[in-house]
Amino acid sequence: MEDNAGIRNKRWSLQGATALVTGGTRGIGHAIVKELAELGATVYTCSRNEADLNKRLLEWEKSNLNVLGSVCDVSARSEREKLMEKVSLAFHGKLNILVNNAGIAIYKKAIDSTAEEYASLMSTNVESAFHLCQLAYPLLKASGAGNIVIISSVCGQIVLDDLTVYSATHGALNQLARNLSCEWAKENIRTNCVAPGPIRTVMTETVSPL
Ligand SMILES: NC(=O)c1ccc[n+]([C@@H]2O[C@H](COP(=O)([O-])OP(=O)(O)OC[C@H]3O[C@@H](n4cnc5c(N)ncnc54)[C@H](OP(=O)(O)O)[C@@H]3O)[C@@H](O)[C@H]2O)c1
Repeated sequence: MEDNAGIRNKRWSLQGATALVTGGTRGIGHAIVKELAELGATVYTCSRNEADLNKRLLEWEKSNLNVLGSVCDVSARSEREKLMEKVSLAFHGKLNILVNNAGIAIYKKAIDSTAEEYASLMSTNVESAFHLCQLAYPLLKASGAGNIVIISSVCGQIVLDDLTVYSATHGALNQLARNLSCEWAKENIRTNCVAPGPIRTVMTETVSPL
């Protein structure tokens, strides 16, 4: 009997491909890192918590998965620049896949949302994705076949209570993906947006019993 991974790997492979996945230490990002690495890609990931990151890197190493990583707060412009320098160095200036996954949620009524919360959501969820796409552009182009995946949310299309600002960030991400998919297609950079519904992760378990 062949397991699912065996069957999948026979159908197609990412052997030789390079990927950057932001926020890979838990939840959706963790699953993406694992999937890409199991398909043969070398993956670079980041998060803010160094202990969590090191724990994950050790686990992946024990599973013979090629995953590198460093601490980065993607809400800070200078840290994003440093991250991309490290990625470029690790992957010799070529990146096949950028997954903008890192994000935060703040559950608040619109009227109660503070300026600080608004700024934090915008810089972490939207500005980081836009700037990382800009920074990755030369690396994606150099790979000859670049892919950008932006993790958005169903909240970018429908109304859920107490998520007005969070949802606005995802509406922006959806449109960012539409525009980049046209603007950079001629460079052979494909851009897609994935907009999941509720998934049981740390982000959701703190607010609702899914
Ligand atoms: N879960 C859902 O139901 C759902 C549905 C639709 C869309 N999404 C989207 O999917 C993405 C992942 O969500 P999730 O549920 O997997 O969240 P999660 O469990 O909270 O994981 C978030 C990951 O991103 C990292 N991260 C958060 N802020 C960061 C920052 N400023 N810089 C670098 N890394 C950061 C976290 O590590 P550190 O905290 O250590 O930095 C962690 O690795 C988010 O963009 C979210 O909006 C989630």
